[in-house]
Amino acid sequence: SKERTFIAVKPDGVQRNLVGEIISRFERRGYKLVGLKLLVPPVELAKEHYADLSSKPFFAGLVDYMTNGRAPVVGMVWEGPSVIKQGRIMLGATDPKNSGTGTIRGDFCLSIGRNIVHGSDSAESAEKEISLWFGGKGEVVNWTSN
Ligand code: CMP
Repeated sequence: SKERTFIAVKPDGVQRNLVGEIISRFERRGYKLVGLKLLVPPVELAKEHYADLSSKPFFAGLVDYMTNGRAPVVGMVWEGPSVIKQGRIMLGATDPKNSGTGTIRGDFCLSIGRNIVHGSDSAESAEKEISLWFGGKGEVVNWTSN
């Protein structure tokens, strides 16, 4: 399957040295890494990424947290069967107080405002987020090993 999703390790996940753990879980599951970058996202990128939440009281704080540069974000594109839905299951519920043990959030965090990872919630979001974060030519790599 060519299904793809956007997964990000947020600044709190990078600061806590969880990048390798999170990549490992997707690799061991069998998904294919087809995009990877480390960056402090521009404010406009974070605002566009979270545009659906622009009316929420936590929006300004969320954008500041993602963009203030105290730690970067690791953006990834993962490919494979049902990776959008399965990726969300691997991440666990958005609010860590509802995330099951064995999920990334359920194993590593407690606060919704510091929930260490993001994953696209639908095919539409995945398409939007991949083009937003990996819009440049060649930034998503089609590869197969023989
Ligand atoms: P994410 O999966 O990136 O999708 C939207 C993000 O908004 C979510 O994870 C949280 O980091 C953040 N968020 C959602 N609800 C709240 C809240 N009540 N307070 C602070 N941040 C929130």
